[in-house]
Amino acid sequence: MNQTDGRAQSDALVLFGVTGDLAYKKIFPALYALARRGALNVPLVGIASCPISLAQLRQRAGAAIKSAGKIDDKPALRHLLSLLRYVNGDYNDPATFIALKEALGGARRPAHYLAIPPALFATVINGLGTAGLADQARVIVEKPFGRDLASARKLNRDARRIFPEDAIFRIDHYLGKEAIMNILYFRFANSFLEPIWNRNYVASVQITLAEDFGINGRGAFYESAGCLRDVIQNHLFQIVALLAMEPPAYQGFGAVHSEKAKVFQAMRPLHPDDVVRGQYIGYRKESGVGSESDVETFCALRLSIDSWRWNGVPWYLRSGKCLAVTAAEVLVELKPPPQKLFDDSTPVTGRANYLRFRLAPDSAVALAARVKRAGKEFVGDQCELYLLEEQAGQETPYERLLGDAMAGDGALFTREDAVEAAWAVVDPVLATHHVAYRYKPGSWGPKQADALIASDAGWYNPKPGGVSAG
Ligand code: BG6
Repeated sequence: MNQTDGRAQSDALVLFGVTGDLAYKKIFPALYALARRGALNVPLVGIASCPISLAQLRQRAGAAIKSAGKIDDKPALRHLLSLLRYVNGDYNDPATFIALKEALGGARRPAHYLAIPPALFATVINGLGTAGLADQARVIVEKPFGRDLASARKLNRDARRIFPEDAIFRIDHYLGKEAIMNILYFRFANSFLEPIWNRNYVASVQITLAEDFGINGRGAFYESAGCLRDVIQNHLFQIVALLAMEPPAYQGFGAVHSEKAKVFQAMRPLHPDDVVRGQYIGYRKESGVGSESDVETFCALRLSIDSWRWNGVPWYLRSGKCLAVTAAEVLVELKPPPQKLFDDSTPVTGRANYLRFRLAPDSAVALAARVKRAGKEFVGDQCELYLLEEQAGQETPYERLLGDAMAGDGALFTREDAVEAAWAVVDPVLATHHVAYRYKPGSWGPKQADALIASDAGWYNPKPGGVSAG
């Protein structure tokens, strides 16, 4: 399934915000991985307002790659650094874009990566348009794409004034993860799932993205975002869309995009009572955080998808910083058998059969079914059948997505209508919500989150990495 826009490979990569955090942590390591594969052969033009020399930028790039892992291919690193150029300037100054044009030399189809704060997106996009640097070009935009429905619409309008939709690549790095791509594959490459994948057999679905660390010095960013905006409206919603979508009507990613957008459109807008917000004790002491901040570092919510397939099935999503483990999982809980024929206490009081997608830190798909214990009595245990384990040599999400964007393949990027529809779901609770409850670092968040799911079997807490079976 590929969706290229029919145009050629980008012939240069421009990195706005080249001295920033994202470039350091994610983009340079991804470029190095591309260089190691021999897939990076175009000029790399970094731009920032930082008065450093090209030599200093090269040093910084080397340090970024080193801090992400071992440098095991020195010629690839040298090759990457030789491609690097630097433009220093203010994004509000037209002279910066003239300097960029010069640095691009003969390149005619650059890909512009906006690794900059969203507040600067419109300025840069307009600057590119005015300087004639948008023709035949692509633009890669980082999440968060907007901070609510109105700002996302404005961003889309600003971007679409200059670039056609198929030249805009909105990154949600979760879509570049193997375990998440596998959800789409697993659902539609197997026939046994479809008959049960609906309200008749599925009791509930829950998704947990837990992190055992805090905000890692990103106080200022986090204060303007919070957990709902940071990971739920995008990463977790993308997972919901892949789990809930109808089969694509034809082979091609255009059909996948359309079906995913329909899921967001069918989601019921959230009500404050559907959402439990939490804040870890100690958050207010982090640098860049207000002493009376009510920003949530934990968020749990109950979502409804008002579609034929999912009517009445609750979807529970939760994520948080400073939780007990770092792990991400989906649990699709099936309805129990209609009659209790055996002596087991479960599933009447416990968990019924389920399908578990382990997404991080390792990946697996497990199907849990009850099996009889040896002996006279008819009692048994829920056992997991393991279907998949992680394979070595995977591309990182940024390596995959950068390569795809430069090749014009929009399959793993988010589409304008889907982004806006996802914002429309969370928009009602961005400003109107209950206070954030405090929770202890190392816990599973505030106990109020348990009440949200009490009518179903409760949260399933993922195990830490290194524990294979559930
Ligand atoms: C980012 C969020 O988009 O995703 C972070 O800004 C979060 O707060 C991260 O930690 C999680 O991504 P991953 O790939 O580490 O699971």
